[in-house]
Amino acid sequence: MKRIALFFAAAFAGISALAQPQLREDNIEEVLQAMTVQEKVALLVGGPTFDVAGPAGATRAIERLGIPGTILADGPAGLRIDPLRKGTDKTFYCTSFPVGTLLASSWDTALAEEMTTAMGNEVLEYGVDVLLAPGLNLHRNPLCGRNFEYFSEDPLLSGKMAAAYVRGVQSNGVGTSIKHYAANNQETRRDYNDAQISERALRELYLRNFEIAVKEGKPWTVMSSYNRLNGEYTQQSNYLLTQVLRDDWGFDGIVMTDWGCKDGTVASAKAGNDLMEPGRQVEIDRILEAVNNGTISQEELDRNVRNMLKYIVKTPHFRGYKFSNAPDLAAHAKVARKAAEESIILLQNNNGALPLKGTEKVALYGVSSINFLSCGTGSGHVNMAYSVNMQDALSGAGFTLDEELTTYYKAYGQYLEAVRLINGKDYRDDWWNGRKWKDEELPVSAITRQAGNNDLAIIVLNRQAGEGSDRKLDPDFELTGVEQKLILDVSQAYHALGKKVVVILNVAGVVETASWKNKVDAIVLPWTPGQEGANAVTDILTGKVNPSGKLPMTFPLNYVDVPSATNFPDGLGANGDKGKNIDYTKYEEDIFVGYRYYISAGVPVSYPFGYGLSYTEFSYSRPMVKVSGKGEVTATVTVTNTGSVAGKEVVELYISAPEGGLKKPQRELKAFAKTKALAPGESQTITMTLTPYDLASYNQDASAWETAPGTYTALFGASSTDIKATAKFKLAK
Ligand code: BGC
Repeated sequence: MKRIALFFAAAFAGISALAQPQLREDNIEEVLQAMTVQEKVALLVGGPTFDVAGPAGATRAIERLGIPGTILADGPAGLRIDPLRKGTDKTFYCTSFPVGTLLASSWDTALAEEMTTAMGNEVLEYGVDVLLAPGLNLHRNPLCGRNFEYFSEDPLLSGKMAAAYVRGVQSNGVGTSIKHYAANNQETRRDYNDAQISERALRELYLRNFEIAVKEGKPWTVMSSYNRLNGEYTQQSNYLLTQVLRDDWGFDGIVMTDWGCKDGTVASAKAGNDLMEPGRQVEIDRILEAVNNGTISQEELDRNVRNMLKYIVKTPHFRGYKFSNAPDLAAHAKVARKAAEESIILLQNNNGALPLKGTEKVALYGVSSINFLSCGTGSGHVNMAYSVNMQDALSGAGFTLDEELTTYYKAYGQYLEAVRLINGKDYRDDWWNGRKWKDEELPVSAITRQAGNNDLAIIVLNRQAGEGSDRKLDPDFELTGVEQKLILDVSQAYHALGKKVVVILNVAGVVETASWKNKVDAIVLPWTPGQEGANAVTDILTGKVNPSGKLPMTFPLNYVDVPSATNFPDGLGANGDKGKNIDYTKYEEDIFVGYRYYISAGVPVSYPFGYGLSYTEFSYSRPMVKVSGKGEVTATVTVTNTGSVAGKEVVELYISAPEGGLKKPQRELKAFAKTKALAPGESQTITMTLTPYDLASYNQDASAWETAPGTYTALFGASSTDIKATAKFKLAK
């Protein structure tokens, strides 16, 4: 009897094991078949977070089938989780790395990969499965509030940077979520705004960056954006999520909604949006009802669930990875510093004002000197253990700081901090950080006294930004009256004594420079460079590091010159027609975004796309282009360091297409590369290859990519307007 019972127990266990397969990489179909409809639907809607404090979201576990939950956390400049937890003294800080815009300023994909390899290690070691990054929407307009998270106004630079970023993070066995797909180029009414864009501009610009990132980076996940595109929510667009993303580009991961998905949950699921985040019961109810009444077919349901299972088997939680909660933050801080150093841009350096000796007496101006901004707010923020400020970085490097000023700014900082406490604001993750830290007017008499007491002046200006709102023309883009006066008064006082003035732009977005740049000697642009950024700036100031960053976007002379100035909210055109730019935005400039416009239309700018100075000089020689039988283009040029210090040079390859065929920008970036550190006199030959597809334009009437036949010009540039060498080549149709 006992033996019979045992036999039945064993048999039952066998049957139930058969009926309840445990998820493995090779039994996804079996598990899918074993899932109930309720379980399938649950997997498509985000659930409560676990294991980690403060991540953005999670996917649900189905324990019966050995399906673990997984954790999703921001963000683009480093992992964003809560640093403190109840019941423990242990801290969970993450490294604040340079923001996307600064990383793109390196024009160095190897550097990006190195930096994000470190970033991804924190994701892994803190028990997170997917980093919700990188953000790669184009800088269509300098007022977009999230530009700092994004890379560039150019789709090639954005796409290449994003692909490198993805490869670096994912080399740790964790995922990324490239975002926000697609055309999320403004924050004003971001959850509703309809971006009205021609198919050509979409294909060549706003999707092109994502295409490169998908094909060359192979991200595990894509995040669909909040906005609409040509009338339809991107989350609900079969065209975007299935036809283009999966069918055309071969994406095989999951698509998740941006946080707080739309009422059209059912349309989203059908369009190919696998996961609704952060997930609500109502979404489960909607999908369940649609499956029951046949609006969502069994195939559609299974397709999405299959995608989810394929994603889950890749994750650390599935592998049972024992995360340490102790990544090597000291080592990662060094990586963050190096990444900033290799990316910071020297915008101006009149009469060799920089580098400095490092022992000078410095009058350091600006409230940002003690509240140096490392990163943005919102999901672009990182909870870091510390952030170096300019006062500490400069004095740590050997400079002597004017005590009157350091004391003044410290006291002013304490005052602002007191006001913050009264207001109960957490400035570490709030608009307070930067938005409220405004400079106050300094008496000219004090500035004159300080000019006498010091060798030079350094002025630090800041601009903060973050998701949820766009930057304002005045005062985010424009300098304030106080800032203009500070620059004027300081320049007059110091120049009168033959002393230099340096400006550091610690800004989250492009600012106006044309009206004041000639008053100062040097301008350094570190953007918001991460927690070690002030040290990196100091290394640039002293020449310990020779700057090699270049602009990933244009600095216009005036905001009115921006091609989307009249159809961007709060710029120039938002008045009158209330819906315009708020409910919908017509991308009237079409493919003429950034330098594509300025150069083609002959509009002068303050600093062109691709521009940045070095402490050395480079010459370009032997430009050559060869075309293979298959139409593959190989372009080479030799770069020589003709100056007196070692340095790296970014080589930008622009192509001018022949007349005829589709109207095109006068030149377009088609490849770029960065030299190694070249010693004085040393040369390096750079080789860049292009396919006919890289050279093609999208003919929307024919729904096809076309490469015009004829003679092309390859322009090897130190910037988009500083062309150092050219070569011609012919292409057949
Ligand atoms: C942002 C995303 C972010 C998500 C989760 C959203 O508001 O748009 O970029 O990943 O929140 O924090």
